[in-house]
Amino acid sequence: MKILSIETSCDDTGISILEAKGGMTNASFKVLANNSNSQINLHIPFGGVVPMLAKREHIKNLPVLLNKVLKKSKLEKPDLIAVTSGPGLEPALWTGIVFAKELAQKWKVPLIPVNHMEGHVLSVFGKNKGTFKIQKLKTPILTLLVSGGHTQLVLTKEKMFARGGSALGGDYEIIGETLDDAVGEAFDKVARMLDLPYPGGPQISRLAEVERKNKKTHKFILPRPMLHSKNFDFSFSGLKTAVLYLIRDLGGIKKISRTTKAQIALEFENAAIECLVHKTQKAIEKYKIKTLIVAGGVTANQHLKNEVKKITKNKTKLLFPTKGLHGDNSLMIGIAGYLNYIKNKKKVPKIKSLKATGNLRL
Ligand code: KG4
Ligand code: ZN
Repeated sequence: MKILSIETSCDDTGISILEAKGGMTNASFKVLANNSNSQINLHIPFGGVVPMLAKREHIKNLPVLLNKVLKKSKLEKPDLIAVTSGPGLEPALWTGIVFAKELAQKWKVPLIPVNHMEGHVLSVFGKNKGTFKIQKLKTPILTLLVSGGHTQLVLTKEKMFARGGSALGGDYEIIGETLDDAVGEAFDKVARMLDLPYPGGPQISRLAEVERKNKKTHKFILPRPMLHSKNFDFSFSGLKTAVLYLIRDLGGIKKISRTTKAQIALEFENAAIECLVHKTQKAIEKYKIKTLIVAGGVTANQHLKNEVKKITKNKTKLLFPTKGLHGDNSLMIGIAGYLNYIKNKKKVPKIKSLKATGNLRL
């Protein structure tokens, strides 16, 4: 079966074509085409994603990308279309949904909505090109989802997709999440305070990485909010505010040298990652986790990867997305779309009923 998948939840427009076969636990995929357009340069002057601008760009990009992937895969029409229906920016989500609906009606093929976060979970199986398979994972599985909009610890007790009758249903129990800012959002906001361009995550981690190698004594200490709270929740807004006060106490950003900026970036990254990793470790112990998945845009962070590897110590199987699939992409939407389709073939929603849900939960 050939699946065309569309992702427009934020500032990346993506369309892929995958050829898929097999069942829920042994599905295998071949990448026929995978194309995307990042809008980062457009949003940089605004210091963040402007939803209406993102919408306009998606509308412009989608037909161009569609032509490219159809040409590359030498396909006239797919057997199934998968589209992100949420969570994300609603004006942006709608562009992909409207486009997908038109194509599904024109080609008379089923259209399946995909939860963007389930896409991130399943992104760890994907490859940018060639073939890949869904691996059998030992349960219980814990997923740490870290992106610009989410910070969640998700428990899968039985197996993925074991539960739930709806097209979006899987065995996902959110056991902890951020009470305020998402970790990626905190990286972006702190970067802005440090006068670094959007998106701030990669900028902060680059500065921090250089400073970490200097191995000088750390100059600043920032708080680790909720580190020892008894639940699995997170909070990043206090940490962000602590950076704001620190910059103010140092006389404002204009008075801060590049070295000081790097020291702040390092301490901020250490603090944020420590919070994530500590709670993940507690959850691994409590639920006797056999497999840990870490997914979402923030997994591009090398320090997070290094620290997570320390807590799993080869005892817990660890899966990260491969390079190119950390952030938002349509390939992960194709994987989730196929698995949801074969699970719920008889319950594919009516094309007309499909809508964007900005705050869709796993
Ligand atoms: O998953 P994603 O591409 O989009 C959302 O669904 O939100 O995640 C984007 C987030 C942004 O906040 C970005 O700053 C962050 O991931 N990010 C990073 C790094 N690379 C991207 N955060 C920390 N370190 C990085 N290297
Ligand atoms: Zn995402």
